[in-house]
Amino acid sequence: MASKQPILRMEQIDKWFSGVHELDHVDFDLYEGEVHVLLGENGAGKSTLMKILSGSLPPDSGRSFVQGKLVTDLTRETARAMGIGMVCQELSLVPNLAVAENIHKGRRPGTQLGLVDWRSVSQGAAEHLKLLQMSIDPDVLVRSLDVAEQQLTEIARVLGKQPSILLLDELTSALSDMEHERLFEIIRRSRERGVAIVYVSHRPAEVPQIAQRGTVLRDGRRIATTRTEEVTEERLIQMMVGRQLIRRRGWCGGHAGGCPDHGGPRQRPQPPQRKSCLAACDPGHSDHLGGRVRPVATPALRRLSAPGRFGDAICHQQLDLRTGAAA
Ligand SMILES: Nc1ncnc2c1ncn2[C@@H]1O[C@H](COP(=O)(O)OP(=O)(O)O)[C@@H](O)[C@H]1O
Ligand SMILES: [Mg+2]
Repeated sequence: MASKQPILRMEQIDKWFSGVHELDHVDFDLYEGEVHVLLGENGAGKSTLMKILSGSLPPDSGRSFVQGKLVTDLTRETARAMGIGMVCQELSLVPNLAVAENIHKGRRPGTQLGLVDWRSVSQGAAEHLKLLQMSIDPDVLVRSLDVAEQQLTEIARVLGKQPSILLLDELTSALSDMEHERLFEIIRRSRERGVAIVYVSHRPAEVPQIAQRGTVLRDGRRIATTRTEEVTEERLIQMMVGRQLIRRRGWCGGHAGGCPDHGGPRQRPQPPQRKSCLAACDPGHSDHLGGRVRPVATPALRRLSAPGRFGDAICHQQLDLRTGAAA
């Protein structure tokens, strides 16, 4: 991969919002046929970088190269013309149009008389959805779909334009496990066809399933870019949060406080499951244990996470939360 020229290179990208340096000299590159995960906690600057790349937002400084060529006027139109397609959380579907019309938006097939060929619109969308193994009726109005189906429709719409670079910005929160798996399958198949994909996530646990390389952003800075086979989940989390980690085994209550591998902060607690999970270890922390930590575990955790006790080291302590004992 190193010998090839990247399909995309962003150099020293800077962005300020209201006097705050939200992207600080960020470098990013992407190769044909790779899935590159862009990881970071909420507010790290991931969406801002993707918006700059898709031409929705101008950078304050920095340079972007597509296929080795410097792009001086990256707008939505030029990005689209260069084969950059983006699916973000704010969907661009028209709620009062059918799925098929949305999929063909801006490029509806016409008849010889110059009218819209509605039959082709519907049939084309049905074939496209079938190819993507999405069981969505092309003739229903988008507003009648749930959020997950709308996200899948948006992915189908963007893929219908056959992008060479596909940006997927944190789609998975609304998707069920099955839809999530379907999305991964679509990503794998797109990659096999040579599409370069940026998959934005705040869940390091997904990384080995999907990506060949990863870049971690924290507070608007690029912390590292690495091959995913060369990095552990623990290390990724440490880079994301910039603090030491604790590994615990016990009753995972979904961690409303932000356990990265069992759901982010916006997710409601899940039914308890016996799992091993990782969480950022703040001094005296207990929030990410859900309400399920037994009192006996708390002093042990406090001792383990006392300020200065571990410095910047990663702490791999196994705790059984039912007994409070280190395992
Ligand atoms: N349009 C905007 N105006 C002002 N601040 C913004 C805007 N967009 C993003 N930000 C700020 O920039 C930071 C990074 O945001 P974002 O790129 O959305 O992070 P992420 O996608 O990693 O969660 C956040 O602090 C956010 O509040
Ligand atoms: Mg975001």
